[in-house]
Amino acid sequence: DSFDTANSERYRPAFHHTPLYGWMNDPNGMVYKDGVWHLYYQYNPYGSKWQNLSWGHSSSSDLVNWKHHPTAIRPNGLGYVFSGSSVIDKDNTAGFGNNTIVSLYTSAGTNQMQSLAWSTDNGETFNIYPGNPIITLESEARDPNMFYNKYTGEWNLLLAHALEHEMLIFTSPDLKEWTLKSAFGKGLGSQEGVWECPDLFELKVRGSDEKKWMLICSINPGGPFGGSATQYFIGDFDGTTFTPDKDMEGNVPTKWMDYGKDHYATVSWSNAPANRRIAIGWMSNWQYAAEVPTRQFRSANTLPRDIELFKAEDGQVYAASAPSPEVAKLRDKVFIKTGRTSVTKKPRTFDLPAANDGICEIQMDIAAKKAGKVTLTLKNDTGDNVVMQYDVAANTVSFDRRNSGITDFSQDFPAVTTAPAFSSGNKIGLRIFIDRSSIEMFEKSGKFAMTNLVFPNKPYNSITVCTDKGRAQIENLVIYTLKG
Ligand code: FRU
Repeated sequence: DSFDTANSERYRPAFHHTPLYGWMNDPNGMVYKDGVWHLYYQYNPYGSKWQNLSWGHSSSSDLVNWKHHPTAIRPNGLGYVFSGSSVIDKDNTAGFGNNTIVSLYTSAGTNQMQSLAWSTDNGETFNIYPGNPIITLESEARDPNMFYNKYTGEWNLLLAHALEHEMLIFTSPDLKEWTLKSAFGKGLGSQEGVWECPDLFELKVRGSDEKKWMLICSINPGGPFGGSATQYFIGDFDGTTFTPDKDMEGNVPTKWMDYGKDHYATVSWSNAPANRRIAIGWMSNWQYAAEVPTRQFRSANTLPRDIELFKAEDGQVYAASAPSPEVAKLRDKVFIKTGRTSVTKKPRTFDLPAANDGICEIQMDIAAKKAGKVTLTLKNDTGDNVVMQYDVAANTVSFDRRNSGITDFSQDFPAVTTAPAFSSGNKIGLRIFIDRSSIEMFEKSGKFAMTNLVFPNKPYNSITVCTDKGRAQIENLVIYTLKG
């Protein structure tokens, strides 16, 4: 789908969702209806800086190919249209009709208030509720995220009490009248910045019948590598109160959905089929989102990720974020496939595809054997590089973009980010997605995700692998070219 404004800037992502023109931040209001994945997003249709905040709209039947629609909700009498959420009102509790899409968003004028809008044409256009605002509080609260609670038969809503560093929890019978029940988060997690963009849902723990609730809370600043990041809490929810799990020391641990610098405002689709919980995040960081070296558009979203829970060796439940299975549809050709290759201190180099500016997916299993560290280096012929390292003793994987290309637009951009590898033993399986201005790395089953922007002067055209000492085994190396 293309509008006249579509452009071909060199850093425009080839396979990530991005507006054709203008500024984007948070994905929000996402809902699945009648086979279509609706994605709304914080949007400035008139330029590539944060202004005129509206709900942009894209849709997809497969989560990877996106159609662009006209702006869905524009600034109105109550101010800018900030982030929110959408549900399908199956039983017409709000009175706008069965199966209507009902959305809540924050009206941001001189104050932040919550407003309602509904759509009777499958999310294409919205009616603004004449009774807005439906929630007003004294201090800044935003990003209403609601869902139907099948246990209580009521609607639940989380609202970020941004400056108080807590999430407010409400209930409602009809999506219009909301009653405040509790607040979660005081003194927990990262308290450095504002709390934004909540989400709350229940999932099964892999390999068991246990169910847990996951509460997502974006924070800015206060992320592990500076600026924006998405923390979450695992616990129980009874319809009014969220009770977080504690670790062995009796503390509520802070957990991160992604260990890169560019993953924020992540929330999930309402109404996804087959008990799936699919999330997508804004692939940037408030530290430099407005300074990145693109012109006509700014920001893209991450790949869609299926969220699952798993129990780690420390007895704690964590969220796994793996690329949604639909992402495999992006594959074009197998560019390289090797069974088993050993590597030593002496680097071994594999070419990366040149087609489509080098966009690709790399998969591999690393058995470190006696090596302490296994290093993967992406390079191009202008001297740019990205260094990814699996450190067996630390059980971490790191990503160094300090020399990745254009980095000088912000002092906060050059960085090394580190994820827990969650590996038992000295093996790890990785999936790495390289687009024109981003790299997403996943542990194969999603135990960690790491998303970082990069702006290489030319596409990376090789990957070298080496160890610090001894021999390591690279198994099942596959490099796919991807469709743009
Ligand atoms: C998060 C955020 C939200 C707000 C939106 C405004 O990135 O600050 O809290 O609704 O962006 O665009």
